[in-house]
Amino acid sequence: MTDDIPNIAQKAPFPVEVTEGKSYLWCACGRSAQQPFCDGSHKGTTHRPVKYTAQATQKVFFCGCKNTGNAPLCDGTHSTL
Ligand code: FES
Ligand code: FES
Repeated sequence: MTDDIPNIAQKAPFPVEVTEGKSYLWCACGRSAQQPFCDGSHKGTTHRPVKYTAQATQKVFFCGCKNTGNAPLCDGTHSTL
């Protein structure tokens, strides 16, 4: 099955404490059971995870609605859905 429209995992970001230098695979398809990260559930869709490498140890807000224009981070688009 191919499906360009991502599932909305939630209409809000996921705050995550990231570690400097560490990479994370953000789920773009919205199907992962381990939000906001990819668990391989995009298989069979056109979606691929987006890699994020933390530049600093800090809290970041990963997009949960999967409609952000600034993937993998929330840009506020969720409030329009
Ligand atoms: Fe959503 Fe991999 S499970 S991108
Ligand atoms: Fe997707 Fe905010 S959660 S833009």
